[in-house]
Amino acid sequence: MKVLVVGSGGREHALCWALAASPLTDALYCAPGNAGIADTATCVDIKPTDITGIVAFATENAIDLVVVGPEDPLVAGLVDALEAAGVKAFGPTAEAARLEGSKGYMKDLCAEAGIPTAAYRRFGAGEGEAARAYARELGAPVVVKADGLAGGKGVVVCATADEAERAIDSALGRDAFGEAGREIVVEEHLDGEEASVLALVDGRNVLMMPGAQDHKRAYDGETGPNTGGMGAYSPAPVLTPAREQRVRETILQPAVDAMRARGTPFRGVLYAGLMLTRDGPRLLEFNVRFGDPECQVLMMRLMSDLLPALVASCDGVLDSVDLRWRTETAICVVMAARGYPGKYAKGEVISGLDLAERSGDVKVFHAGTARDDAGNVVSAGGRVLGVTALGNAVDEAHSRAYAALSRIEWPGGFYRRDIGWRALQRDTIPTED
Ligand code: AMP
Ligand code: GLY
Repeated sequence: MKVLVVGSGGREHALCWALAASPLTDALYCAPGNAGIADTATCVDIKPTDITGIVAFATENAIDLVVVGPEDPLVAGLVDALEAAGVKAFGPTAEAARLEGSKGYMKDLCAEAGIPTAAYRRFGAGEGEAARAYARELGAPVVVKADGLAGGKGVVVCATADEAERAIDSALGRDAFGEAGREIVVEEHLDGEEASVLALVDGRNVLMMPGAQDHKRAYDGETGPNTGGMGAYSPAPVLTPAREQRVRETILQPAVDAMRARGTPFRGVLYAGLMLTRDGPRLLEFNVRFGDPECQVLMMRLMSDLLPALVASCDGVLDSVDLRWRTETAICVVMAARGYPGKYAKGEVISGLDLAERSGDVKVFHAGTARDDAGNVVSAGGRVLGVTALGNAVDEAHSRAYAALSRIEWPGGFYRRDIGWRALQRDTIPTED
């Protein structure tokens, strides 16, 4: 098969790496890719949101399957456009991608399907007074969210009623969230430990992947600004088989059934961002794609061929697929450019990557990397590398990942030193579900 992966991050490198290993893959392309992806796929210079450009490339090159990594092109209708042109595409349609593209849409679906999530109400322009009243009724802490995609910046967890009023006023009154904040969701604050469950979905069947946890804050000890994700690991010991079963029965399957009943079946990866509360798992958010860096740890653990599973998701026959996973733990530590998620430099030379990968248990996935004229790998983004290691237990994976990181020479880079601390300490909150 001729396969095209859309995207340029660590997630897409991991997907290309897994797809390149498939005996069914005859040719692999990535749009636009990065310096690491270029080692396994032919990179083509097309932006993920250039829908016309991607459809043209796919038809002209007789691509058999397009795998879409990021959410923006999904929400913008890339899969719809590819299918209209007769190209098989892995990922949800624009309508189904609203599960991530609109928080209000997602919350309404949860209400309709009885999916456990935080109590909420939606508010639009001119409804500031009602939103403030609802926030007061819920009581602090309370959460204010932009309705649309905001690149991880659309959520304000407000510790006080004053803070909530300010967040509501600036969202509805002064466009703090931009286009994404014209509408907001005000919701109850949930307490507990966060974890993620990702599943392949074919419109009807849910094929769960192993659980994972990520670290969204920039610095050690869960401090600093929110990022796209500074590290992840799988499995997550807090996600016991009983909890995973409950996530399937109360969250994933009801959502998939409700989307099918609406006439907008969901196909692709459904990612449930969970809060494990004393009353059981509750849904914080749906993503409609692989997480980044969750994808890196999942691909590291995947023993089966990814390609037929993605095709089965497109074709509605996931019930015939059984994915096998290594029992080992995988940890991914993200190396980012100093200053990320704020301003940072680009074009800095990175060396030692071959040394870092010398052990077979380590894979360095590239995110924001490019090659300079001399052929050096240089930094070209905020999140730059995802150093991913396997180990028999979490401590072994952890020490292998950090040993590999110590061999990478890039003075302008930084990374967290405590990725996996929850699993290392088994320091989970008491949950009574
Ligand atoms: P989201 O994009 O909805 O996952 O929100 C981003 C982050 O905000 C989550 O990972 C949580 O840490 C936090 N968050 C969102 N909603 C809530 C909530 N209802 N209660 C507590 N924390 C939340
Ligand atoms: N790591 C979280 C995400 O991909 O949204």
